[in-house]
Amino acid sequence: MQNLGKDLARAASVLKAGGLVAMPTETVYGLAANAFDEAAVARIFEAKNRPHFDPLIVHLPDWNEVGRVASSIHPEAHLLWNALGPAPITYVLPKRPEVPDLVTSGLDHVAVRIPKLKLARELLTLAGVPAAAPSANPFGFVSPTTAQHVADQLGEQVDYILDGGPCEVGLESTIIAWPNGPAVVLRLGGTTLEQLSGILGYLPEVRNSSSSPSAPGMLQAHYAPGKPLRLVPQGFAWAGEQGNEIQSLPWMPAKGIARALTTSGSPVEAAQRLFGELRAFAASEARELWIELAPEEGLGRAINDRLRRAAHCGEE
Ligand code: TXA
Ligand code: MG
Repeated sequence: MQNLGKDLARAASVLKAGGLVAMPTETVYGLAANAFDEAAVARIFEAKNRPHFDPLIVHLPDWNEVGRVASSIHPEAHLLWNALGPAPITYVLPKRPEVPDLVTSGLDHVAVRIPKLKLARELLTLAGVPAAAPSANPFGFVSPTTAQHVADQLGEQVDYILDGGPCEVGLESTIIAWPNGPAVVLRLGGTTLEQLSGILGYLPEVRNSSSSPSAPGMLQAHYAPGKPLRLVPQGFAWAGEQGNEIQSLPWMPAKGIARALTTSGSPVEAAQRLFGELRAFAASEARELWIELAPEEGLGRAINDRLRRAAHCGEE
């Protein structure tokens, strides 16, 4: 497809000129538009069929640019940035009035992220504008972890898809906020609770639920493969394949089963592969997928969060 390629300069000029660019990041591909250009941002919602009550993350190339969109920075945000640098983490901070309400869904806070992927930061630097970017999937579907995933689902609606290869993390960023004092995690993601508590000196509360009004986008109706998903507990005793109708995906290789989510139990590998596996299942003939939950620690927590959301949808 002509609008997919590795032309960084083209991607930057499209972004700058008010177009839509699929931007690779270390987490998932984003659908980016100039955050200060309301018409461009409106196209994101249109392309994704995303409800306007779901705010967007604003991406910047470096921490020293956060002041372009945030009016103040919590001291613990500085602390985390100093320790982590560019990482799969998103900071919710008080917004500057210049940020359109469309970006924040009328909230007085803006979600800010500096991606770890160098290509993403180069794109943002070249374009010279903060980029509002949700994951580049139709609303409610699994996030894309390759450029081809974006082309398959959004194709012509995107002006340019910048191919940065497969995403290194494979899960969205961790969202952190300071609603009334201590840090609160609004979405589990690529930065683990263990990492955060090691830096903050306390374990932040996790308010990772669909009912939280402060993270209006965390609806249960996300990550849907469109078919039933059955979550089996970590350590499940797999007993070989279960016929053509039911696909089995153990955490580690199991006797008599063709596939597994990891080769030797690494949650990093599982996170990288998870969304691709859900896509492959969605496209397959199988009626149902049995998938084994991750150990509930580190990245495993975010993996299980996505699996629970995906399973919830499958039942609808
Ligand atoms: O890893 C990621 O975060 C990816 C890449 C592209 O950066 N982006 C991503 O965006 O996952 P999206 O739109 O799919 O998810 C963003 C989440 C939504 O659940 C939204 O509700 C929440 O961030 N969010 C955005 N702005 C917010 C705000 N001001 N306050 C609270 N939550 C916010
Ligand atoms: Mg998303």
